Amino acid sequence: MTILVTGGAGYIGSHCCVTFLEAGHDVVVLDNLSNSNAESLKRVETITGRSVLLEQADIRDQAAIEAVLSRHNCTAVIHFAGLKAVGESTENPLSYYENNVVGTHRLLSAMAKTGVHDLIFSSSATVYGEPQRLPLTEDHPLAPTNPYGRTKLMVEDMLRDVAASDPRWRIGMLRYFNPVGAHSSGLIGEDPLGVPNNLMPYIAQVAGGRLDKLNVFGNDYDTRDGTGVRDYIHVVDLAEGHLRAYEALGRLEASQNSFAVNLGTGNGHSVLEMVKEFERASNRQVPYSIAARRSGDVAECYADTQMATDFLSWQASKDLRDMCADTWKWVVKNPKGYQL
Ligand code: NAD
Ligand code: UFG
Repeated sequence: MTILVTGGAGYIGSHCCVTFLEAGHDVVVLDNLSNSNAESLKRVETITGRSVLLEQADIRDQAAIEAVLSRHNCTAVIHFAGLKAVGESTENPLSYYENNVVGTHRLLSAMAKTGVHDLIFSSSATVYGEPQRLPLTEDHPLAPTNPYGRTKLMVEDMLRDVAASDPRWRIGMLRYFNPVGAHSSGLIGEDPLGVPNNLMPYIAQVAGGRLDKLNVFGNDYDTRDGTGVRDYIHVVDLAEGHLRAYEALGRLEASQNSFAVNLGTGNGHSVLEMVKEFERASNRQVPYSIAARRSGDVAECYADTQMATDFLSWQASKDLRDMCADTWKWVVKNPKGYQL
């Protein structure tokens, strides 16, 4: 029983490979390496002592996916592959619709053709858009505010339709909040190309001296210190959530053969709290200045975690201190990321 992990060389996918291999599953990775480095999978092998095969291919190539699914007798797919930068999605929406929506359509077509019907999909809390109430429950209206978020919602809708069309499908959609941190070995972590868009890798590069200072995007939000509040979740907890979701597929009924669930901690932390905690973990200063709000940002966003607790028997176990300490360990050990 082999699980195909699309996008498995990337940040979250590589951590997921570790979790699944350690749980005794066999995995094969399909990745075009457009935003990752095969070195991550060598590190996964070092951590787990098990081998991981990389099939370098694109999810837009249906024939290639069919060949990989058949060659390795895959029984399930965990689907991470796609593009994920909100800002870039507003500048180049077509490549987001192509990679995320068309790519997932081709993947599903290949799965249908080869008789593979179990799927876990990386969705995002961005599908909720501007929160109308907090914490965000799974039945909150879905109204994404940018092209990236709309691709995630389109894929969710496609998956709900596909599941409803044929009871053999079993599909889990996982709405991640803000994944951060790294494996505690310091061997794998987030390795963004160029200047990071996201808070945690940006702070880490400031602490490590690669960037001068952090721009805090707005301190006039209606939050406890005026800066944006998010639900940061350790990537190893997130990977564990995938394992629980995969196990939950086996408990699905034909009449209810898909689910969407939040993966977050339920706790919000502000930008300034993140800075303070990272300074403590790294024993370095993180200079910052207050800048204008970033367009499209919301004041606060955090998960209701009840469904994950009840349905997946999963809860995040790592706190902000672990997230910052593990990120710092990764940065210190790999100042240039995966570039050797
Ligand atoms: P990542 O960029 O590190 O990983 C994505 C992987 O997919 C990369 O290895 C990339 O090379 C590969 N890929 C991209 N397009 C491909 C294609 N057409 N064919 C084959 N491979 C392709 O990103 P990540 O942070 O690990 O995110 C994984 C998934 O989780 C994505 O779908 C993302 O949208 C979703 N997600 C991420 C976050 C986050 O903050 N990191 C939050 C919510 C959801
Ligand atoms: N921020 C700064 N300075 C920076 C970067 C970020 O102040 O240099 C602030 C933002 O304004 C926000 C917070 O830090 O208040 C978090 O910003 P991120 O860019 O790290 O994360 P977002 O919440 O904007 O978005 C992330 C992913 C999305 C995903 C979403 C899910 O980038 O893909 O989480 O909640 F959809």
